Amino acid sequence: MKNLYLKNSKKLLFHGWHHTNFVSKKAAEFAQSIGADAFLAESAGLVHDLNYIVIPNSEPEVGKKLRENYLMKAGYSRHEIEWIEKIVMEGHIRTRTTKISEEGKALSDGDTLFKALPTTPILFASKYIEQNKVDISKLAHKISSEQNKLIKSGIYFYTALAKKKYLRWGKINLALWDNVNEALKDEDVAEMLSIAKQLKVL
Ligand SMILES: [Fe+2]
Repeated sequence: MKNLYLKNSKKLLFHGWHHTNFVSKKAAEFAQSIGADAFLAESAGLVHDLNYIVIPNSEPEVGKKLRENYLMKAGYSRHEIEWIEKIVMEGHIRTRTTKISEEGKALSDGDTLFKALPTTPILFASKYIEQNKVDISKLAHKISSEQNKLIKSGIYFYTALAKKKYLRWGKINLALWDNVNEALKDEDVAEMLSIAKQLKVL
């Protein structure tokens, strides 16, 4: 699995092995903290973003076949593969709800934590923009619109462990992106960014 990510590392500036390895380990830790199946949560973490290898800036269902092939080759049973697919789909940030499995919660918390890390907007936001060929305004709008409603409904993180350790980071991270949206509406900021683009600084 690691080799597949390494082979595609140029396509996966944001969702590469650094992301996958982190998410799968944290998914296992969060699963253990709530008595869920850590092996399945970790496995789902390893394959949850394979869609970005198939089609850039795509939805998780695009990676279904590739996930199936890899998990089959790695010796997972048909039942386990179906479970992992369910966990991956449940944990997707854009569509996740209060009613997901415990393993789905663990994967979701691992994946959300990567976004909430203080290092991510500094080091990886620009990589997301490059990988997915979007601009900062699209990314900031996506983050604010997806994540504010999760904070409001109490499912930004699901597990008590993630909430206790990382919710403060998550809220500060989201406030930063809300500020980005506000700043982009300021004419002087817009002009400054447009000059930076003309100068090929951005
Ligand atoms: Fe992810």
